[in-house]
Amino acid sequence: MYDTILFEEKGNVAIIKINRPDKLNALNAKVLDELHSAFKHCGETELIWGVILTGEGDKAFVAGADIKEISELNAKTGKDFAHHGQTIFNYIEQFPKPVICAVNGFALGGGCELAMACHLRIASENAKFGQPEVNLGIIPGYGGTQRLTRLIGKGRAMHMILTGEMIDAKTALEFGLVSNVVPLSDLINEAETILNSILQKGRIALTTAIRAINAAYELPLSEGLKFEADMFSVCCGTEDFKEGTSAFLEKRKPQFKGN
Ligand code: COA
Repeated sequence: MYDTILFEEKGNVAIIKINRPDKLNALNAKVLDELHSAFKHCGETELIWGVILTGEGDKAFVAGADIKEISELNAKTGKDFAHHGQTIFNYIEQFPKPVICAVNGFALGGGCELAMACHLRIASENAKFGQPEVNLGIIPGYGGTQRLTRLIGKGRAMHMILTGEMIDAKTALEFGLVSNVVPLSDLINEAETILNSILQKGRIALTTAIRAINAAYELPLSEGLKFEADMFSVCCGTEDFKEGTSAFLEKRKPQFKGN
């Protein structure tokens, strides 16, 4: 079905694996298009409630945009190229179902940017993060200057982007770029455990939480608070809310149905 990604459904979880290990899973146009299609499929499939995104092999999640492809860009096509990648990464960031990135090695350039578009990041101990685009005479174009700055702060983002230096998984954890670091052999299990635990919750609460948190990037505080109240009220109208509160009061486990 796909040439450059592997797609697996495990219960209510989809596992999307970028599969160009001989090129360290570098993102070419085909990978981006297939990623987009796979996410659309996950969005449309009712039985898929969450997604794990990772890379094939034990060396790289994604070592960046495909440098052979980007070497052909000029000032005009460069803008289209950046917009195209940004559109797909925005789609992932706004995805209504939780997306965990399991970073299994290098996450460089577009790889770091792709990981940052996901809702949560966990990393293997061998993972390395970087925005090395300046080494090629360019800057990040798939959201790196914006998302890295918001995630780890201006000073650290300036350092990483201006020097092009990589940071290891431990530093990424200290910086808040990832929320968890585990041995490579445990990475997918850990991602599944976290995602399955998240998916026990009310799914409308999860979707509205993602939307409200994303809104914090876009809106001034007063508008963000209004949006939060809107999302809160959506949750208050759900069956899951009735079930969650009743279950608490009746001292039992809630059985959420996603409605
Ligand atoms: N685009 C295209 N091909 C890439 C790539 C990328 N971003 N990153 C790695 N590859 C390819 C290499 O060209 C090599 O292919 P080959 O075997 O056909 O020559 C293969 O993947 C393995 O990479 P290699 O460089 O030999 O591995 P390494 O262990 O020596 O180094 C890295 C690993 C990640 C440090 C190095 O590959 C690298 O610096 N990659 C580019 C990172 C980058 O600048 N990303 C941002 C792009 S905008």
